[in-house]
Amino acid sequence: MKIPRHLLSVDDLTRESAIAILDTAAQLSQLSEGKMKKLPTLRGRAVVNLFYEDSTRTRISFETAAKRLSADVINFNAKGSSVSKGESLKDTALTLQAMGADAVIIRHPSSGAPQRLADSGWIKGPVINAGDGTRQHPTQALLDAFTMRNRFGGVGGGLDGLRLAIVGDILHSRVARSNIFLASMLGAKVTLIAPPTLLPVEIGEWPVEVSYRIDESIEEFDVVMPLRIQRERMNQGFFPTEREFSRHYGLNIDRVAKMKPEAVILHPGPMNRGVEIDASSADSARSLIVDQVANGVFVRMAVLYLLMAGSHELPENALDQERA
Ligand code: CP
Repeated sequence: MKIPRHLLSVDDLTRESAIAILDTAAQLSQLSEGKMKKLPTLRGRAVVNLFYEDSTRTRISFETAAKRLSADVINFNAKGSSVSKGESLKDTALTLQAMGADAVIIRHPSSGAPQRLADSGWIKGPVINAGDGTRQHPTQALLDAFTMRNRFGGVGGGLDGLRLAIVGDILHSRVARSNIFLASMLGAKVTLIAPPTLLPVEIGEWPVEVSYRIDESIEEFDVVMPLRIQRERMNQGFFPTEREFSRHYGLNIDRVAKMKPEAVILHPGPMNRGVEIDASSADSARSLIVDQVANGVFVRMAVLYLLMAGSHELPENALDQERA
């Protein structure tokens, strides 16, 4: 089973390699319940968090994941660095490589920046995309798949037959673009629910159904995932007001009451409570939003482990061997 050299997009994964990452994350989550929270796997290796955009969950969870694998972590934030003096991505990357970076996790506002880093050879080790522009956020999709599989499936399986609704600002969302293709590859049926102005033109080529009204079909889904309105990527008005958007598309207690009894709510975060989701929905018993954050650490440990541990083939009982 082949694990890619870099993780730049969910397109780098096959169903088999995605399931291998989810299964490895499941093993790691069990280890964390035991006495031994830390593995020696990446001792002496340096992981760089290269963040050109703000982040809470992704940056901290990659840092936690790397530390649990005993790696050294170097945190680079563009704010407060020589990027403000005009230093390029190339020179920043060459500087980090010279300091001994063994892997680079990059978040960048420009779609394609992680691909450039991987293709250039400026960084010798694996490059992991932690979100680039509106394009991809593959580890978010993996942790979302892990969370859905924990609830509805099991180790070794995919998301076959699951109905997932992604609601809101699809146009600007790298989370949507990653989830649509990964969840579909794992067997889920994905529906996008949004006003036409927040849907990209290319949806005709995507493996999705589209609806413009949340109230028409909310009772059909196993998972409902509202997305934040990404004001920072908008240069024009895409809807009249946030209040109007919330009235037509926001997840609220009345809409949650119409969901299937076993259906759950996911949100990649950060949330804008009162806009795409109200507090009672975010904090309800159906919400797996906090589980997503916890699962993010295990999934990122699995990604670092599989990309950095030396072999791109996952040996049988690899983690048992680590513990021995
Ligand atoms: N979901 C996500 O990427 O959150 P952060 O921006 O806080 O990393």
